Amino acid sequence: MSTQQIGTREVSEDEIAVHWKEESYFEPGPEFIKQANLSDPNVRKRFALENFPECFTEYADLLTWDRRWDTTLDTSDPPFWKWFVGGKLNASFNCIDRHLAANKNKAAVIFVPEPEAMATEAITYQDLYVRVNEMAALLRDFAGLKAGDRVTLHLPMVPELPITMLACARIGVVHSEVFGGFSGEACGVRVADSGSRVMITMDGYYRNGKLLDHKVNADIAVETAAKEGQHVEKVLVWKRHPDRYSSTTAMVAGRDHFVNEVLDDYRGQKVAPLAMDSTAPLFLMYTSGTTGRPKGCQHGTGGYLSYVAGTSKYIQDIHPEDVYWCMADIGWITGHSYIVYGPLAVGATSVIYEGVPTYPDAGRAWRIAERLDVNIFHTSPTTIRMLRRAGPLEPAKYQYHFKHMTTVGEPIEPEVWRWFYHVVGKDEAVIVDTWWQTETGGFLCSTIPALERMKPGSAGPGLPGIYPVIFDEQGKEMPAGSGRAGNICIRNPWPGIMQTIWGDPARMVKTYYAKYCKNLESKSWSDWPYFAGDGAMLAEDGYFRVLGRVDDVINVAGHRLGTKEIESACLTVEEVAEAAVVPVVDEIRGRAPEVYVSLKPGIEATPDIPAKVVHAIETTIGKIGRPRDVRIVPDMPKTRSGKIMRRVLAAISNSMDVGDITTLANPDVVEQIRVQVQGQEKFVTRDGPEDIKQFGQQE
Ligand code: PRX
Repeated sequence: MSTQQIGTREVSEDEIAVHWKEESYFEPGPEFIKQANLSDPNVRKRFALENFPECFTEYADLLTWDRRWDTTLDTSDPPFWKWFVGGKLNASFNCIDRHLAANKNKAAVIFVPEPEAMATEAITYQDLYVRVNEMAALLRDFAGLKAGDRVTLHLPMVPELPITMLACARIGVVHSEVFGGFSGEACGVRVADSGSRVMITMDGYYRNGKLLDHKVNADIAVETAAKEGQHVEKVLVWKRHPDRYSSTTAMVAGRDHFVNEVLDDYRGQKVAPLAMDSTAPLFLMYTSGTTGRPKGCQHGTGGYLSYVAGTSKYIQDIHPEDVYWCMADIGWITGHSYIVYGPLAVGATSVIYEGVPTYPDAGRAWRIAERLDVNIFHTSPTTIRMLRRAGPLEPAKYQYHFKHMTTVGEPIEPEVWRWFYHVVGKDEAVIVDTWWQTETGGFLCSTIPALERMKPGSAGPGLPGIYPVIFDEQGKEMPAGSGRAGNICIRNPWPGIMQTIWGDPARMVKTYYAKYCKNLESKSWSDWPYFAGDGAMLAEDGYFRVLGRVDDVINVAGHRLGTKEIESACLTVEEVAEAAVVPVVDEIRGRAPEVYVSLKPGIEATPDIPAKVVHAIETTIGKIGRPRDVRIVPDMPKTRSGKIMRRVLAAISNSMDVGDITTLANPDVVEQIRVQVQGQEKFVTRDGPEDIKQFGQQE
């Protein structure tokens, strides 16, 4: 077997070759093509590199600007790209006010509470206008917030979330929404990092049939932030039910205020939308990275909004008369871009569902779709796998018809894709598999729904104006059809790319650009490819298939969790000496974390230790980080310099060959752990998913 040097490690040729069968294509149907927003076969010519960056003015022209920009793209300070410089606009105005003249009585948002007996609430553009204005007045006059201030939101999937976001945007306040399922502690770390002195939360919300106490998390968040040196002056608490308090946690006098009550003082108030610089930050969205602390991706106003409006119109194919339902949580980037900002910028009706798609039974999602006559449906492979397992024959029982469906967040197995297409889409809907990231603001790879054939398991080519490329570790371009995986990068900037990492611009350069930038002094964008951190391969037909993360990030149900974050949570358990977290293939969630711990000398392995570890993870991160297993091992496999070899543990957890371990300091422990995990009988496969094969290789 031939080997090659990749970075500091030896990798065999066939280790990086991907054994993956080519899939056959599916064609978009004539009905869809007839009505599509984007059907011009010349679109790729319009967005050709020679027209870059001016081609993106097409997206910016979808918005209403208070002042038109002077410079489309300013590259004077790479890689801190500035889009539509000199332009002024307001995101809240673009998502609400400008639709009033023609559509004030149209539903902007339809809220579906989880309890099925509770009424669905349609919020018209006029309602939204009134409620956002009142909230903006409250934020300005009661909370004392002004343009540029950051405020942390820890809100669940309720209309108060977009109302609060748009109220912030109206007065230039930078919102930082933390996924409602994150723990109070995780929220507090983000409060501190963003320097928020105001937090906005809700007393409770429904999930899986229970009314959860959510207010309690705010108390923990404030305490955590204080430990990190950030004082929170005000906690604004929305009530899930305006007529009662849905939490048992006490309100702290002087600090906590019920938004619903304070709003009484602001009834009917109007706040003029502030004309913001195109480059002013609109929001922060925290995401996990290779090292410990989550990074606050800062998204700007003009570039971001143009990009999500453009992609909502052309890739999501949203028309104002469509009923669009994206099942993601607004607490993640998908919800920001494709529940709130994109769809509302193009004047759509966006459905917000509070709870679990299979509650109270496998038909729930399809009943919602039927009842609201949803025709665009957007979700993740994890949800698709879940719905398929819960009720593979359910969709056929309901009279809904989708014209368009989206999958996002993780690679989708071709078999699952086909179920989605045939059973959920009833052979009528086109599918777009959209590959992108928190950092990128909007879609990067996808087929253009009316123009390009679908291929199960492949995202497709770069979007118009997006030029992806696959580099090997040395920065050499890997050609289409090589059958091998490399690192997917984007050659050029685009309007949706984040502006910086909040408070740590050097980290942005290091994480996303340093690897492939040949000249750090260069002012030319072409010297600064964006390194996404994903392994991918490019097929002969120009379609990209994204395989997964190449760093120590685990994609759990489409959400990024840093292994280091989970490990440091484990280390808060007194008995634990060392912790290593690895991804394990999970039938529903794609990947799940599996935890290995070794104990301090003299401590005995008792059954309560794994429970303590799970508890520690749930309190520092949230239930989403819950590991599949916690395994107490006698020692960790280590290199001679004492580094834990996570790749060996990942191989064991996934029944894969552990590879060469002769250079380890303690090779014997590997077999001990293997027997502990897999039993005496040895069953290993050579091949496995690319991200698992790659996992821990960079250590
Ligand atoms: O590994 C890729 C995977 O999700 C990561 C981005 O996660 P996050 O920032 O949380 O954003 C999720 C929603 C955009 C990527 O680095 N990923 C995202 N979309 C796909 C995907 N993997 C395969 N196929 C996709 N369509």
